[in-house]
Amino acid sequence: MTRAETLLELDKVSVSFDGFKAINELSFAIGSAELRAIIGPNGAGKTTMMDIITGKTRADSGQVKYGDHAIDLQNLSESAIAQAGIGRKFQRPTVFENQTVLENLTLALHNDRSPLKVLFNKTTEMDRRRVDTLADEVGLTDHLHRTAGELSHGQKQWLEIGMLLAQEPRLLLVDEPAAGMTPQEREHTTDMLKRAAKTCAVVVVEHDMEFVRRLDCRVTVLHEGSVLAEGSIDHVIQDRQVIEVYLGR
Ligand SMILES: Nc1ncnc2c1ncn2[C@@H]1O[C@H](COP(=O)(O)OP(=O)(O)OP(=O)(O)O)[C@@H](O)[C@H]1O
Ligand SMILES: [Mg+2]
Repeated sequence: MTRAETLLELDKVSVSFDGFKAINELSFAIGSAELRAIIGPNGAGKTTMMDIITGKTRADSGQVKYGDHAIDLQNLSESAIAQAGIGRKFQRPTVFENQTVLENLTLALHNDRSPLKVLFNKTTEMDRRRVDTLADEVGLTDHLHRTAGELSHGQKQWLEIGMLLAQEPRLLLVDEPAAGMTPQEREHTTDMLKRAAKTCAVVVVEHDMEFVRRLDCRVTVLHEGSVLAEGSIDHVIQDRQVIEVYLGR
């Protein structure tokens, strides 16, 4: 990957919690319109890696270079990192339960967490067209007028992905999206993430191997805070070390 194609690069990043190295000289790079799956056993450091990228956790050493000018994200606050185009989806959906799908998406569009402001200010026709496009992208067109609280777990996850996409991120980090989903919902989620990766880079942490296989992308295996293997799903699942530490458990 040349510098121009690299969106995010971790360079020998380490972080310890009470002397335990959760992330250990971790180096890897993501391209600007890449879909990447991250797998690895429990405690491998997958979530911590996302915490470091989003500024929630500060690394003890190493660099996290991002964007066209390879700025070090560690000099930025969490909100500045979000502003710079890094969106993150947590495991539990954080949608406004009492607002409709339409209202949630409109709120996200304005990147304004004050619901009253948006609800009392008339939204423009352009907003509405954009919301319709987003709803279509995440498969919620038929549910625009339902409150988020009425949606299924899977639909809430999609709504949140839609809300993240509304902010036009350059990089989307998604931690275990398939957890608690039905097989059909999982399939729909893979399609959605693959589509999203056409407009931004998407990094997906997931344990479900079928899900990862369907993503049909490069896979990075983390173990003890470092990259153990990287390549196609078929490449990594045949790697002896991967079998030992991860699949052979
Ligand atoms: N804030 C923290 N304080 C102390 N230890 C932490 C903290 N965050 C993570 N850890 C430890 O760091 C290690 C890596 O945790 P992390 O949550 O990143 O793993 P993971 O790969 O996401 O695992 P899982 O698949 O279970 O979600 C674990 O041993 C965890 O207990
Ligand atoms: Mg985790």
